[in-house]
Amino acid sequence: MASLAQHVILAVEQLHRTASGAPDDAALARAVVRLSDLYTSDRQALTREQADDTHLAAKCGYFLASDAPKVVLALDEAAARSRAFARLAHLDRVRVLDLGAGVGATSCGFLAWLAAARARRASSTPARVSFHAIEFGAPATRAYECSVRTAAHAAGVEVDVHVEARDFRSDPVASLAQSCDVVLCQTALNELLIEDRSDPQHSPSTREMVARWSRAAPLLIIEPALRSTTRALMALRDALVSRSPHVESPAHVVAPCLHQQACPMRAKLDDWCHEARRIDPTPRVAAIDRIVGRRDGRALFAYLATAPGPAPSIAGTASPPISINTIRIVTDTLGSRGKTERVVCRADGELRLMRLLDRESRPGNALFVEAERGLAATVNPMPPNDRIGPEVAVDPLPALGDDFVHANSAWKPD
Ligand SMILES: C[S@@+](CC[C@H](N)C(=O)[O-])C[C@H]1O[C@@H](n2cnc3c(N)ncnc32)[C@H](O)[C@@H]1O
Repeated sequence: MASLAQHVILAVEQLHRTASGAPDDAALARAVVRLSDLYTSDRQALTREQADDTHLAAKCGYFLASDAPKVVLALDEAAARSRAFARLAHLDRVRVLDLGAGVGATSCGFLAWLAAARARRASSTPARVSFHAIEFGAPATRAYECSVRTAAHAAGVEVDVHVEARDFRSDPVASLAQSCDVVLCQTALNELLIEDRSDPQHSPSTREMVARWSRAAPLLIIEPALRSTTRALMALRDALVSRSPHVESPAHVVAPCLHQQACPMRAKLDDWCHEARRIDPTPRVAAIDRIVGRRDGRALFAYLATAPGPAPSIAGTASPPISINTIRIVTDTLGSRGKTERVVCRADGELRLMRLLDRESRPGNALFVEAERGLAATVNPMPPNDRIGPEVAVDPLPALGDDFVHANSAWKPD
């Protein structure tokens, strides 16, 4: 994560750390364990206990700073692939709709991303961000406004904050999305997923609701990297892509997937497609991780970014087509003697087991071994037998050039 993004997140962490009544590290660690347990084992209690003081403390003191970087990572990838997202860093005023906004991790993550993206472009014009947050928990909304104003100050961005106590399933919310530049929804959809079936899926009404959001504006959904919540997100994604060819105003998947085919990972019930990305944890997140014994410092999450309009392979759409030589690495390294194997999801929608023999490893193909789970890369030339030889180059997926975004910065879907 760019250091400016981290500076923004640190400022919010500091706000909640020094607030009166803030818990010490030991009490915070207990609250974090309790809330994490609820997510994994007693999801029905989540909605009931939203206003619980200990949960709020865990959200402000820990989850805010550990979830905001996920937004930065996901927006970086979506902006690298789609001008619908890239243009957000070029606008003088960005209108953001944050659904299930909680204490502000997602909006603060957005500000952290925006600050870093604008700094990379050496943009000096002042930016204004108008946040419209939908959240039905009153105690969270108070923390939300403080978090966002602090993050905006650190990001050097002017903000308007409007928090509405409303259920995001209500009809007016879908209409609101139409007047926004981006819709964000982090770790909130899973609260609608009550039943834990063998292959969890959202209800038809949730699928319809998300389809409406996706048609209205660029949309980023982030969910926990649990089997149940991630598989439900994968099913939601498939429902979106399967309906797109049949509707007048479709939406397409921008990231993490490289294609608009059905998700090949859904075939096996024990697979769930998620990210495991290295981030620099903030000091307090690192301290709590040490206390609770969480040693894998990677950010684990699943996400889906979509944009209105037809799929990128069609001329005149919001993004250039993805090269057929592109892969997304969807497992960690699979330990095999003398070689590294990893499952990749290719741009043609096929899952393949690719391998690199240790003796054929070169600086030019080392990314295949080193890449974090979830990363996309180009493979040139693409080996027909899935064996990456010494002559094959594995490189990070290049981002959209500024000229491409500028040429189309006025673009906005109908
Ligand atoms: C786990 S928190 C995540 C908050 C925030 N998105 C974040 O990333 O920190 C989920 C939030 O969504 C809110 N929420 C869940 N379902 C909602 C709904 N149908 N309408 C409005 N808010 C909702 C809950 O009150 C809770 O504050």
